[in-house]
Amino acid sequence: MGKESSGIGAGMNTVVMISGGGTNLQAIINEALAGDLPIQLRAVVSDRPGVLGLDRAEKAGVPTHVVDYGRSNDRAAAERQLAATLAALGPELIVLAGFMRILPTPIVAAYPGRMLNIHPSLLPKFRGLNTYRRALDAGEEWHGSTVHFVIPELDAGPPIIQYRVAIRPDETESSLQARVQQGEYLIYPRAVGWLASGRLRLRDHEVWLDGLPLHEPVVIDGD
Ligand code: GRF
Repeated sequence: MGKESSGIGAGMNTVVMISGGGTNLQAIINEALAGDLPIQLRAVVSDRPGVLGLDRAEKAGVPTHVVDYGRSNDRAAAERQLAATLAALGPELIVLAGFMRILPTPIVAAYPGRMLNIHPSLLPKFRGLNTYRRALDAGEEWHGSTVHFVIPELDAGPPIIQYRVAIRPDETESSLQARVQQGEYLIYPRAVGWLASGRLRLRDHEVWLDGLPLHEPVVIDGD
């Protein structure tokens, strides 16, 4: 099978990177298969073998690649392999969907305005890990998830769209996570579609949507 015809869907050459379950990947696969996203989902790249997200890709007919960081202790070698894997795939868009490693600056810099991430907080609040626990402990009124452009600094790239929910009095970490993740399946495909259709771009570190600078992310309120 030639490079042009591999993967699913038609449109912008897109690679999704995962480390785990891949429920966000599944949301993107579903929309690509339905013809609702102008992307050719060319490949899924995981930094871990045997994860459920790889099964999801294979079941949908999306080629998979594993760059197994765990097999050697040589992180630099794994990063070189990752860079080469991506370069061979030639993506116009890279979608980080639960990819749990910090990418080295040269990889991020190779895809300016072409790499998206979803982070489970209302950025700039709660960068990093354990966001649900931290939001509850801080007594936050709202929590949610943010799709943003990726820059070398972790979880610091310009935000595009957020899904937010009001934290309930009886909220637990897992109930909050479940509510927020439902919204991720809405906002991530939406942002991917905007970028792939040319409506969304990053220009001089600023997000532009439909020809206008987006000073604040689009906010979708959930139940
Ligand atoms: C998502 O909830 C996302 O916010 C975070 O990692 C999680 C990945 O989940 N970056 P999944 O692998 O898409 O199910």
